[in-house]
Amino acid sequence: MPARQRPEIAIDACATLGEGPVWDEQRQLLLWLDILPGLVHRFDPATGSDDVFRVGKPVGSAGLRRSGGLVLAVEDGFALLDKDWQRVDQAAVVQHPGPRARFNEGKCDPAGRFLAGTMAYDLTPGAGSLYRLDPDLTVTKLLGGVTISNGLAWSADGTTMYYIDSPTQGVDAFDYDPGTGRLANQRRIVDIPAAAGLPDGMTIDAEGCLWVALYGGAAVHRYTPEGRLDTTLSFPATNITCPVFGGPGLGLLYVTSARDGLDERQLAAQPHAGAVFTADVGAQGLPGLRFAS
Ligand code: BGC
Ligand code: CA
Repeated sequence: MPARQRPEIAIDACATLGEGPVWDEQRQLLLWLDILPGLVHRFDPATGSDDVFRVGKPVGSAGLRRSGGLVLAVEDGFALLDKDWQRVDQAAVVQHPGPRARFNEGKCDPAGRFLAGTMAYDLTPGAGSLYRLDPDLTVTKLLGGVTISNGLAWSADGTTMYYIDSPTQGVDAFDYDPGTGRLANQRRIVDIPAAAGLPDGMTIDAEGCLWVALYGGAAVHRYTPEGRLDTTLSFPATNITCPVFGGPGLGLLYVTSARDGLDERQLAAQPHAGAVFTADVGAQGLPGLRFAS
């Protein structure tokens, strides 16, 4: 196994809610977010620089666009950031029914769409949904009744989508039709005990295994496609939010974390909460997917 399983700090960022890491293979840069203050970060591992773009409202997730720039799930819908990172334009407004809510995690699908889900700020059960943004900027609701819409990943052939609604304490799989973007046949493939933390963001590796961040659990777990836990990676921060593979040959795992949800005593005990960590876990990621607009 791994050369360097012990995570190191890539950016001691003190993020409030560090999230949504995306690896840009063309530029060899890591994009990541601080959701609540609405910041999109661009980290260059070669120089250590970490630039920030201010969206002006909470930003739950981002995907790379084929034309350059980013597609964003913002508090109240979707937005597009241009290729020079100069301006952000709202692409679609989504009215959240019920309590005050915001977009949370999202990801590009294998056919160039962007899927992202929502959650109520007060975590009202069932108040969230999962939506799809097509390249022509139309929005379709795919699922309702979710609570904290979180991690998304697709199998390499694009025909299985993996999905996490955090309080359900597990990972579900769906049959996915890359041609139409339709979901079918929801089933539970991984159960995670509450004592291990809340399943949050996830990514998939070249062997089809899922790497799941555990919020409150100070860990990332690797599960086989059959749902067996086969690796546990531990972190010096409890609120671990989302992993992505990056670096040369997609051989490094980058993992975000949060200070949100920790009290003063916990923050004092976890000085690196809110950092972006990196670990050589002896696995390789799948190439990142892009939004077709
Ligand atoms: C959300 C947080 C939430 C966490 C729980 C994150 O994706 O942005 O607000 O506390 O999931 O798993
Ligand atoms: Ca998340």
